[in-house]
Amino acid sequence: MRAPSLAEQYGAVRRRSLQLAEPLSDEDCGAQSMPDASPVKWHLAHTTWFFETFVLEPHEADFAPFNPAFRVLFNSYYNGIGERHPRAQRGLLTRPSMAEVRAYRANVDTRVLRLLEVRGDLDALIGLGLQHEQQHQELLLTDVKHLLAQSALLPAYWPTPLAPASAAPALTWHAFDGGLRQMGHAGDGFCFDNELPRHPVYVAPFELAARLVTNGEYLAFIEAGGYRDPALWLAEGWDVVGTQRLAHPLYWRRDADGQWYEFTLHGEQQLDLARPVTHLSLYEAAACAHWMGARLPTEAEWELAAQGASIAHGALHPAVAGPGLDQLFGACWQWTSSSYSPYPGYASAPGALGEYNGKFMLNQYVLRGASCVTPPGHARASYRNFFPAGARWQFTGLRLAR
Ligand SMILES: [Fe+2]
Repeated sequence: MRAPSLAEQYGAVRRRSLQLAEPLSDEDCGAQSMPDASPVKWHLAHTTWFFETFVLEPHEADFAPFNPAFRVLFNSYYNGIGERHPRAQRGLLTRPSMAEVRAYRANVDTRVLRLLEVRGDLDALIGLGLQHEQQHQELLLTDVKHLLAQSALLPAYWPTPLAPASAAPALTWHAFDGGLRQMGHAGDGFCFDNELPRHPVYVAPFELAARLVTNGEYLAFIEAGGYRDPALWLAEGWDVVGTQRLAHPLYWRRDADGQWYEFTLHGEQQLDLARPVTHLSLYEAAACAHWMGARLPTEAEWELAAQGASIAHGALHPAVAGPGLDQLFGACWQWTSSSYSPYPGYASAPGALGEYNGKFMLNQYVLRGASCVTPPGHARASYRNFFPAGARWQFTGLRLAR
């Protein structure tokens, strides 16, 4: 089969963003549930702004902005571009309307596709814009989940309930040799600048759990008093447990009869003990790993184990593990103990696009793999996701190492 052209790839990725918004009302799309999350409408506009600002403005012969005010409204964090609307106030943007944002998308799409007909040198830039849009497709879904979870109606993004999963395989371990190995992106395919350069790394022999920690195992940690035992916790995590009165993962609820439920994009469901636990902070992941006699993997260990593994895609909630080394991709992002730092020799791109990754390499931890809502075509063994240790609204899970 012929590989899709760049224009076809562009059309497919851009259409998918609009498809993700289809189950939602315009009211759903305008609301912001917390400063870390953005309204769907903002995601749809910001990803368009990215193409308008970084592709059309420098390369379109007769460039004129669709609306000059959008340059500020939909700039996320690029100081090199100029002023920004405050992140925590994105939910106050009742204007432009969803209809105007759809028109903005259509206008920019027409102009990008016209530009692609006459320019053959924009593949890298368009490719970055598409990968950027895919990152926002994942955020759109995690942000919608957080938004819908605020309502006592517990609305489902996708109304079909999840079927109960069969039992998870027993927790087994895969052993990996140590030695001097190579990590970082290799080959001609797309990667972000933070995956480069490929470089040698020394790893001691290690073992990795074949699957992610399940809800059932995490429930056992809770019932054993895990949230009340300071010996299990990193100091900062123990403080957070106290100040935020944490006693279970985000989106879990226990009713008066002691039955546990989990809010999902399919609505609230009885907690399925076989599926992987998700929406953990690094603090919770590390404490549970400690209780289970293990630890978080380093990002080098995770990447060496995943090199050459096939990439599975998920749906709207993590599925139960299969046999063998599984759930590397397509279930939950996996916390590592590695802080998000530049690889030796890392260089960011010149100009405002250099702000894409490098400036966030402080006070965040690397997550590896890909989640159930990572778009198809977006996952790689060398991919480095990153969040602060306390973040819980992404599909974050726990793979044990020892
Ligand atoms: Fe962005």
